[in-house]
Amino acid sequence: MPDAPDAPDAPDPRAGIELTDVTKRYPGQRTAAVDRVTLHIPAGEIVVLLGPSGSGKTTLMRLVNRLIEPTSGTITVAGRDALSLNPTELRRHIGYVIQDAGLFPHMTVATNVGLVPQMLKWDRKRIAARVDELLELVDLPPDRYRARYPRELSGGQQQRVGVARALAADPPVMLMDEPFGALDPITREHLQDSLLGLQDELGKTIVFVTHDIDEALKLGDRIAILDKGSRVAQYGTPQEILLSPADEYVEQFVGGAQSMRLLRFSRVADVPLGETPTARPGDDAAAVRDRIGDADDAFAVVLDDAGRPVRAVTRDDLRDAAGPLGERGAPVPEPLHARDTLQRALEALIQTDHDRVPVVGRGGAFTGTVSLATVQDAVRDMRRAAERRTAGTA
Ligand SMILES: Nc1ncnc2c1ncn2[C@@H]1O[C@H](COP(=O)(O)OP(=O)(O)OP(=O)(O)O)[C@@H](O)[C@H]1O
Ligand SMILES: [Mg+2]
Repeated sequence: MPDAPDAPDAPDPRAGIELTDVTKRYPGQRTAAVDRVTLHIPAGEIVVLLGPSGSGKTTLMRLVNRLIEPTSGTITVAGRDALSLNPTELRRHIGYVIQDAGLFPHMTVATNVGLVPQMLKWDRKRIAARVDELLELVDLPPDRYRARYPRELSGGQQQRVGVARALAADPPVMLMDEPFGALDPITREHLQDSLLGLQDELGKTIVFVTHDIDEALKLGDRIAILDKGSRVAQYGTPQEILLSPADEYVEQFVGGAQSMRLLRFSRVADVPLGETPTARPGDDAAAVRDRIGDADDAFAVVLDDAGRPVRAVTRDDLRDAAGPLGERGAPVPEPLHARDTLQRALEALIQTDHDRVPVVGRGGAFTGTVSLATVQDAVRDMRRAAERRTAGTA
């Protein structure tokens, strides 16, 4: 049985979270990381925050457990004003799983898992029993794992210890920031299943951050699709989001129920790539500038001797430039391979700050660029073709 919360003024175990008009502006930043966000996270549900890098997901989470203080707005946890609670006290009731598990390397698994109970001054026997119970829960036989150090565990095992640690004092709320982000797909799926199993048993209020739409659809009772400044583009059940995306931005993420399957089974090689001009470091900068053209977002990809993309140059980079191109421009984002699935491409495009990502073929040679719109159009065309096929055979 889970332990009862210790403090007499502990938040209700059925702890919903209410964010009202919450803004966080970091010192010296022009735009707010979180901009007037209102979000109701019902007790006992898994709410997934899905949004591109820099959209303020981590900031939003850290506002809830007060590792960060809001600039304005109110946050309640279990109906109580989080800002009026003692932060340390508050955090004891909110488990926090950070990316890459964040275990203390010089502590054993048991010590890591027992940290919060120790802070709460439980006696040693009770801590040891709780640690074993939690290791069982996350599928790590205690006899084998409690005395190990984090470096003696695989990435997936470390993540599980991270989850066990966050659960230690049976907090009603769990904040999980890309907890499975760094794992291979099989381990990831396994941990997703364990989390759903645990949730069935424990009924926590869980806020879960991910970049992965499949993970979001699988785990979320509700999904909040976030744009810059954590603008909530849509908040709804996976069904609602898949079947009636609120706007084009949301559509880019989900593209329809049928499309998810298409994404998983199509490859970058199957879509028409953007024809982006290329250049070599020895090329004349003015000539490259002319090649780029004058569209706002236009750029050229600079290739090395083997034809691999290394940098991107825009017209701005070449303003008043004379002589050879040389080292001008900025590094290109990590390229996609023609054999990658569109799902993988979509993930990469969501995570990058760039509108277009280079695609390479054999030997890493540049073959073109791909954008969210490319993927979206391709999937739409495939769907139409599929629909025509079905209509033809019906
Ligand atoms: N301590 C800080 N000081 C100043 N700016 C910050 C700080 N932490 C985050 N930011 C900025 O706030 C914005 C939101 O950051 P945040 O880490 O919340 O994004 P995120 O959605 O979690 O991104 P990712 O998916 O990459 O983890 C970003 O523009 C970031 O640069
Ligand atoms: Mg983050």
